[in-house]
Amino acid sequence: MNLAVVILAAGEGTRMKSKKPKVLHEILGRPMVTYVIESARSLRPDRIVVVLGHGADHVLEALDGDVEVAIQERQLGTGHAVMQALPRLEGFDGQVAVVCGDTPLLSPDTLGRLVAAVAEGGATVSLLTAELPDPKGYGRVIRERGTVVAIVEERDATDEQREIREINAGTYCFEKEALVSALGEIRPDNDQAEYYLTDAVGILVRRDQKVLPIAAEDPVEALGVNSRVQLAEAAALMRSRINAAHMLAGVTIIDPATAYISPGVAIGKDTIIAPNCHLEGSTSVGSECSIGPNVRIVDSTIGDRVCVEQAVVKSSTVGNGAILGPFCHLRKGTKVGAGAKIGGFVETKQSEIGEDAKVPHLSYVGDAFIGPRANIGAGSITCNFDGFEKHRTVVEEDAFVGSDTMLVAPVTIGKGAVTGAGSTITGDVPPGSLGVERSDQKNIAGWADRRRKKKSGKRGGKA
Ligand code: UD1
Ligand code: MG
Repeated sequence: MNLAVVILAAGEGTRMKSKKPKVLHEILGRPMVTYVIESARSLRPDRIVVVLGHGADHVLEALDGDVEVAIQERQLGTGHAVMQALPRLEGFDGQVAVVCGDTPLLSPDTLGRLVAAVAEGGATVSLLTAELPDPKGYGRVIRERGTVVAIVEERDATDEQREIREINAGTYCFEKEALVSALGEIRPDNDQAEYYLTDAVGILVRRDQKVLPIAAEDPVEALGVNSRVQLAEAAALMRSRINAAHMLAGVTIIDPATAYISPGVAIGKDTIIAPNCHLEGSTSVGSECSIGPNVRIVDSTIGDRVCVEQAVVKSSTVGNGAILGPFCHLRKGTKVGAGAKIGGFVETKQSEIGEDAKVPHLSYVGDAFIGPRANIGAGSITCNFDGFEKHRTVVEEDAFVGSDTMLVAPVTIGKGAVTGAGSTITGDVPPGSLGVERSDQKNIAGWADRRRKKKSGKRGGKA
């Protein structure tokens, strides 16, 4: 059977009180509408048409291609939005599922059940319903002798109808022909003077078509995000759904309420996630790692048995058994080798830190190659920027950079070489050599004693 999914995402979302189109508001770093698209995509439909209108250019930018787009110039209601998708579906014959772009918790399984109700259950339209303790703001499902006869929006409902707790989730599957003809009958004769898609249900009932309500197994799937309060609710529910899946797959999450793991993040078995961790984007973490507390990892690949504490890691790769933090910042393009250590108050960028190398304290390493087993002493810095261009620093294997060395790039510290603490190194240090740049120390005998005497004399012999 052919399947098309129409996703409604043209509305402004007035209740969000935002410059940004509603469907672009993010949950775990991803626009709300992409969750809906993903659920639709997992059914492998023949077509996906997203209806855009308010802020269409911005929404389009956020979609990763692979969907068709219809434009609704003026937002005249959900029914009108579906009408704008119809020209795209000319010649298409089969089922049309309609999903709102503001219901991010809808699962592929549930959407699949709606489609099956039409494909195999003989219904003309199936619609997702849920019993909510607080149905305020949703369309209510009106039944007569148990059978659905209409959907009534809250603002058009009578007091009695508002008492109904069964709501319309805004997710449907229609036989295409029935949808097209029902849309033709919809009139904007309601409180908002809009073309309501929900009216299609009543129209089909009046034509004696089979309308099949399908109750959501988990009512949260019906959550529609109209305000930022609901956005936060949806985000919390999404987080607990994702966290539960990781825990069931063998990850320990010490406090799931403070674990912010984006969809698509992979985590290996026996890794422990401590409180306040954010794992975002295309991040993968290996097994037996200890992550957190207070860690943010974005678009990075972390190996096995890595220990990260109080750190920010972005677009970086970290090898097995490495130790990061507490308090370090790995910026874009950092590659940390297996067994290496990046310690407290260290910032790295576009640099490779070799296997078992150490940058333990208070350093900046930018545009550098630090060879295996090299040691970068406390307070050492790569001076990579001359005010115009970036230059490269190379510290070869087994080199020992003394504390507080300024490595003025471009510069190379050879294999096994040493730099003297406090040196400003502007020229290459050959392998096996010592590079030291500082004036000789002189000791002045008795100076300190003389000073102490003089000072205590001034204080009237108090000392
Ligand atoms: C809608 C339903 C309501 C249901 C609720 C579920 C209607 C009339 N009402 O109400 O029964 O309980 O969803 O969450 O359908 N949109 C457009 N173009 C428009 C208007 C809306 O594309 O002209 C899109 C919006 O971007 C949004 C979706 O359709 O993604 C739903 O619109 P919204 O205004 O949120 O409808 P609700 O009031 O929530
Ligand atoms: Mg809504």
